[in-house]
Amino acid sequence: MTQLSEYDATAAASGAAATKRFQDKGGAASTSTERVDMLATEVVEAVHDVIRRHKVTYEEYDALKAWLIQVGADGEWPLFLDVWIEHVVEEVANENREGSKGSIEGPYYVPGAPELPADATLPMRDDEQGTPLLFQGQVTDVSGAELPGATIEIWHADDHGFYSQYAPGLPEWNLRGAVTADEHGRFRITTIQPAPYEIPKDGACGKLISAAGWHAWRPAHLHVKVSAPGHQLITAQLYFRGGDYVDNDIAQAVKPELILDPVASADGGGNVATHDFVLDPS
Ligand code: DHB
Ligand code: FE
Repeated sequence: MTQLSEYDATAAASGAAATKRFQDKGGAASTSTERVDMLATEVVEAVHDVIRRHKVTYEEYDALKAWLIQVGADGEWPLFLDVWIEHVVEEVANENREGSKGSIEGPYYVPGAPELPADATLPMRDDEQGTPLLFQGQVTDVSGAELPGATIEIWHADDHGFYSQYAPGLPEWNLRGAVTADEHGRFRITTIQPAPYEIPKDGACGKLISAAGWHAWRPAHLHVKVSAPGHQLITAQLYFRGGDYVDNDIAQAVKPELILDPVASADGGGNVATHDFVLDPS
């Protein structure tokens, strides 16, 4: 059998992996009958309203039915929800936070990444392509006190926009790590700059994007989960100023506070980006 590479990634395979990851997480909270009644009624009424306002036809209704069935068959519910819905859930969940801004988690987080010290290089292939990046900063609380031993979980796509464990041929933990900050809450993570990410085009989400004349891109981004005992965990993404799609993210997950300003490193061998995290008390 020929060895598959990341370029052989398919919507169905990455969708199935993302679906399994989500199901393994478990623990969906239950809510009251009254609230389910209210939310489900209002969602269904919002759909009825669109049908009446735009005189939706039977052909369009059948196209929607076929598409919804295909989203499930392709395992693309995590991708669909995380691109078009999650950013508003994140906005509501964190609207009262005093510390750093967060952003969506997306479908490609995997817990249990290799544990690394405060000054670390992420696992990568010997010939990993891409501009070298030193991502550094400090974790503090809202009063400015350092948080020694904070954890920075980081994961990102490679120089071709693919995530390990969601595209074939990549080492299991490529460009993923769980970094423990030093006694001042500081971290220095050596990696490579990711490329913009394109939603898989060969699945149901891709079909919607082309049928609607949209583009399928997210700007290049680093994903992080930053935590410390006694503090609220922040899930965030960091973007690169001036990068493609920063102003035009299909997932609408960019915030001005999350845009990095990388500068060329002194040795000329790459870029350095500095970003600090401020955690609210839990
Ligand atoms: C999706 C992919 C991402 O890398 C991300 O950060 C958010 C959403 C997606 O395909 O749904
Ligand atoms: Fe992502």
